[in-house]
Amino acid sequence: MGEVAMRKMLMRETAKKVLLCLLVVLPLAGFMSAEAQKPGSLPSPKFTEKGTDGCLECHAGSKMTVVADSPHGNKDNPHTPYAQQGCESCHGKGSLHSSRARGGHGFPALIQFKRRGSPVAEQNGACLDCHAKDMGSLAGMDWTGSLHDNGRITCGNCHDSHTTDNKMARQTDQTRTCARCHRADVQDHPRFAGKGIAFDELKCSTCHDVHQLFSAAGRP
Ligand code: HEC
Ligand code: HEC
Ligand code: HEC
Ligand code: HEC
Ligand code: HEC
Ligand code: HEC
Repeated sequence: MGEVAMRKMLMRETAKKVLLCLLVVLPLAGFMSAEAQKPGSLPSPKFTEKGTDGCLECHAGSKMTVVADSPHGNKDNPHTPYAQQGCESCHGKGSLHSSRARGGHGFPALIQFKRRGSPVAEQNGACLDCHAKDMGSLAGMDWTGSLHDNGRITCGNCHDSHTTDNKMARQTDQTRTCARCHRADVQDHPRFAGKGIAFDELKCSTCHDVHQLFSAAGRP
């Protein structure tokens, strides 16, 4: 065999090996990346390094930026979301959700508030991680096991977070919110009907702490 023919044969052999390698490895790689997309085999999410700024790269609208101007955006108070993990303090660890490496493969869900969102316990748990404990001058609440907790009511039934407007602080809006579920009691309050108490001017929260309502048979 001449030197040229020999080299040609070697090259052909090498090419065959490379091809064989690709045939074996490529489908395997494909299989492995398909595996990595199964929710069960996703790595655990972590807090992102970019925090709020990273979220705002995609969620740029004013409904998102307004949180910075709400009490939760107050970085001078060390207990607020924006002094801690930003958006992720409420919505949960976002590394997988915002990972660009997953481009085109969807966005693993974060905590979604309100109706048809995440399970009630998960929604309220995200808020209670902070609000169950005392934070500076703001006292923690004893929500778990209360009548509203047992009734599967969420914080989001009454409070909005993506706003600077605190509806619950206004008598009219507060009463309207309670009336969604307690219409009869709002129209004709069972305890003080006809006793000259000006319900039209009082907030329900003047007398009821809706965060820790316990039945007579239950807790104090
Ligand atoms: C690369 C772009 C991108 C980044 C970065 C990103 N998101 Fe999203 N996010 C999306 C898209 C797209 C959807 C809609 C997904 C869908 O409907 O399937 C979404 C949906 C959501 C939702 C509602 C639905 C759900 O799955 O929970 C929340 C809440 C959310 N993102 C919060 C965040 C937070 C918090 C961060 C920062 C940690 C963040 N996102 C970063 C693109 C992004
Ligand atoms: C990282 C901790 C943290 C998380 C998580 C958190 N909060 Fe707060 N929240 C605070 C702190 C601290 C304040 C007081 C802010 C201030 O006035 O400086 C506050 C204030 C509030 C207020 C009073 C607002 C006002 O206008 O006076 C409401 C209502 C509230 N939070 C509801 C919620 C709800 C609902 C959730 C869940 C969706 C939630 N919080 C999640 C820490 C948190
Ligand atoms: C049934 C309606 C309702 C639900 C559900 C509810 N709240 Fe409230 N919340 C109120 C009202 C009413 C106020 C009082 C507003 C006022 O008078 O200024 C209030 C006030 C607050 C305040 C301010 C307290 C203060 O001392 O300044 C925080 C914080 C708060 N709620 C957090 C939460 C969290 C967290 C959840 C869920 C675990 C929740 N709320 C569920 C109605 C509700
Ligand atoms: C205090 C907790 C809290 C913080 C901080 C927070 N969110 Fe939310 N987010 C909520 C709640 C509660 C809702 C439900 C709508 C509402 O209450 O205004 C919501 C709704 C959303 C939605 C769905 C909007 C829709 O129209 O359905 C997206 C997306 C989202 N948040 C992303 C973010 C991003 C991005 C940040 C940071 C810039 C952020 N959130 C900060 C509590 C929070
Ligand atoms: C989304 C529905 C919903 C909203 C909004 C709501 N509640 Fe309730 N509330 C319930 C449920 C469910 C219970 C559990 C007992 C029941 O079924 O009556 C309850 C129980 C109560 C009780 C105790 C009733 C008893 O029989 O001892 C009081 C008081 C109360 N709520 C006050 C309020 C006030 C004040 C507001 C407004 C700030 C409010 N609720 C808003 C659903 C709601
Ligand atoms: C002046 C104080 C006061 C105000 C204001 C007030 N309540 Fe009450 N409410 C009470 C007392 C006291 C009871 C009786 C509690 C008991 O006997 O266990 C009661 C009972 C209730 C009950 C339980 C009724 C039942 O069938 O046992 C509901 C629901 C209720 N209030 C809702 C509201 C709502 C909604 C508002 C606002 C529109 C409101 N309350 C305003 C003091 C008040």
